[in-house]
Amino acid sequence: MHRRSLIGSLALTALPAAAQEPGLRDIAARRGIAFGCAVNGRLLRADAPYAASVAREAGLLVPEGGGKWNAVQPEPGRFSLDSLQPILDFAAMHGQAVRGHTLVWHTALPRWVWEARLTPAGAEALLRNHVAGTLALTRGRIADWDVANEAIADPDVLPDQDLRDSIWQRALGVHYLDIAFRAAREADPALRLVLNEYGVEASWPRADEKRARLLRTLRGMLERGVPVQALGVQAHMPLDQPFAPAPFARFLREIRAMGLDVLLTELDVIEPEKAVLREQDIPARDAAVAERAHAVVATALAEGCRTVLTWGLADPYSWTNAWAPARRPDGAEVRALPLDRDFRRKPMWHALARAFEGR
Ligand code: XIL
Repeated sequence: MHRRSLIGSLALTALPAAAQEPGLRDIAARRGIAFGCAVNGRLLRADAPYAASVAREAGLLVPEGGGKWNAVQPEPGRFSLDSLQPILDFAAMHGQAVRGHTLVWHTALPRWVWEARLTPAGAEALLRNHVAGTLALTRGRIADWDVANEAIADPDVLPDQDLRDSIWQRALGVHYLDIAFRAAREADPALRLVLNEYGVEASWPRADEKRARLLRTLRGMLERGVPVQALGVQAHMPLDQPFAPAPFARFLREIRAMGLDVLLTELDVIEPEKAVLREQDIPARDAAVAERAHAVVATALAEGCRTVLTWGLADPYSWTNAWAPARRPDGAEVRALPLDRDFRRKPMWHALARAFEGR
């Protein structure tokens, strides 16, 4: 602990920036690309080596949980920056931008929202109020928000319906998206309004169908004049799902042709049960993870994506250690992220650096 905090504080304060090796943020920035990661505000304060690596590697931060409804409006009408403030402060200190995640989602809702009996008019008022109240606090400090997250239904779960079942969809249908994006534009005219989604990267029929659903949904919104400006592709990449650049590139081209920006918002590589190499085969595991990360990032960059974030930075902090479908059956730590448990750079770090350099 002593050694760690000593190294951490040295990295933060004593070393002149020029003496540090360039981080992914610098390597990406040289090509006009913003690189960043999801962070936990509490850890930024409490864990010095963690904070030092976030300062070194990330030019852009997104709160892993601090921007969700249950954190921002825990009680009706009480809007709080408590969990975002440490991230905004850290970013200001280290010349980093912050993006927001997420105004509307089917989960991470406080109990009072789950328990509200939502009529369409009530749901609309609640949504508008949450969007306006949140953006009133972050306007001028956060220029990019995931207005809605994971709106599209997984085809294997709902074969006949484009939108995921949620309290918002049940009360308002597709109009909940229109309402949220319009309210966001009203509350902050300068904000980039992003729709964020997963499950649209792989080359298999399930992703083909989800891409089609997402394209239909975005086209509908644009036809109705809804101010959506970008698609966030989460890019959680399970190794048992095949990935080939061509179908993903084609999809991104269609998105870009609609006038939308593309971001990779939550990159990590998952070794699910079927794809698991032995825990001890670290070089083979890391090579597989790095190869997948390079493939998806290089494809996105070639199609005009200029923003890439990983969901966390170092393996022990990855949400995939806790999320049942991504956890290794042997319980070993995941190798999903660019840095290892000692904040050393892994092959995935080098794969990202190469992708940013166009190699
Ligand atoms: C995850 C966080 O990483 C976890 O800590 C939390 O318990 C659940 O949410 N897609 C998203 C993110 O859009 O908000 C999720 O984050 C990961 C999947």
